[in-house]
Amino acid sequence: MGLRAPRGTEDLLTEKYEQWIYLQHKAAEIFSRYGYTFIETPLFEQVDVFVHGIGESTDVVSKEMFRVLSPDAYRKVSEGEASKLKHDQKLALRPEGTASVVRAALEHNLIPQGSAPIKLMYAGQMFRAERQQRGRLRQFHQIGAECLGAPDAMADAEVIIMLMEFFEAIGLEPASLRLLINTLGDDECRPNYREMVKQYILDHADLLDEDCVRYAHTNPLRAFDSKNETCQKVMANAPLMKDYLCEDCRKHYEELRGYLDRAGVMYEEDQKLVRGLDYYTRTVFEVQVLDGLGAQNAIGGGGRYDKLIEISGGKPTPALGFAVGMERILLALEDQGKLPEFPRGNEIYVAFPDPAHKAKVFELVSTLRSHKFSVQTDYQERSLKSQLKLANKQNARFVIIVGEEELKEQSVTVKDMRSACDERIKIDELVNYLEQQA
Ligand code: HAM
Repeated sequence: MGLRAPRGTEDLLTEKYEQWIYLQHKAAEIFSRYGYTFIETPLFEQVDVFVHGIGESTDVVSKEMFRVLSPDAYRKVSEGEASKLKHDQKLALRPEGTASVVRAALEHNLIPQGSAPIKLMYAGQMFRAERQQRGRLRQFHQIGAECLGAPDAMADAEVIIMLMEFFEAIGLEPASLRLLINTLGDDECRPNYREMVKQYILDHADLLDEDCVRYAHTNPLRAFDSKNETCQKVMANAPLMKDYLCEDCRKHYEELRGYLDRAGVMYEEDQKLVRGLDYYTRTVFEVQVLDGLGAQNAIGGGGRYDKLIEISGGKPTPALGFAVGMERILLALEDQGKLPEFPRGNEIYVAFPDPAHKAKVFELVSTLRSHKFSVQTDYQERSLKSQLKLANKQNARFVIIVGEEELKEQSVTVKDMRSACDERIKIDELVNYLEQQA
């Protein structure tokens, strides 16, 4: 077997690449109406960006980050001197976009202080060393949106509405989706709640698996995310955040639901939705497809991260956002028979039976392309019959035949593949003629 793409990665061949670009265009079209502009951050960052941002104990940071080594750092590591790596030599491929966007916004002084929020969107590859399965890759693509500097619950509703609008615009059946929302409280009420959950886990340690018991000491709320069925049953009776919310968080959550109700957005409250990244405060949400994707049914998710900017070295600034996964969206669209198609009609195929006319054809093809026509021709001295076959296969609208007879009269034959009509046209008049047909 020859060389292959690394496990968990995919080549985006023509159709998939076009679908990816299509999703980006749709997102840009919709998000820009809400005031978002594009940002692109590096594919790799200092490890600290993710450790501080996402949280050291999360799976994403503790188990799934791909490290990047410069030749110098690689030498140190292979000589057993990894401990000598400086901070700026400890690099990782980005597992998500939020921490990088916050780092970039701080570095470039984009964080608003009391003025209008800054709204940034991005699209690109993310990397997580996860076990590959349908809808779960090691290199995948996200489109994300981050709104920095908006404390009000109206902003939470707005990003959720924008997300749902995007899903609808790309053709996903609204009835095939489930929007889950929850609140995780804030620094005022969550520490107390975390303690309650921690105690609950420790009290039930004999019934829970090792991971859940470990979470008691690192991040107790993660136990709600356990895939182990027994753990899920035990955690079903754990204390719920909603019973411990402080007044401000309760009000924020109530307002959010009010806005979603006003906008007619259907949602389900899921008290167990904690999500796997530590930066969230208050609102979290996830959109799942109901059928087809099994355990990887989350096609997008996000929430509020009011502490992240401060933790990353900035002034306290409330913020929120989401990201969607391209691969899972395309699988869902495929399952629903809604994958966008981009018929490729090479508008014109220039066929010529005699290779002696190659130079003339070359000239003609260049002229047509300079007039913005998409033009293909033969490079292999094929017979006219096989050139016409190819033109048909390529879905050409017109075939232009450059033959001996035609050239004698300074003209070509234009075959309209839709009507199957032929017409002899003077070369001088060809561009004009084709433009009129378009
Ligand atoms: P996330 O939930 O980790 O959130 O990822 C967002 C989406 O990326 C998921 O819903 C899923 O569709 C897709 N995704 C994640 N991991 C994989 C994978 N291994 N293979 C394929 N698709 C995947 C975040 O990344 C947050 N940064 C979202 C956010 C933005 N929160 C606030 N702002």
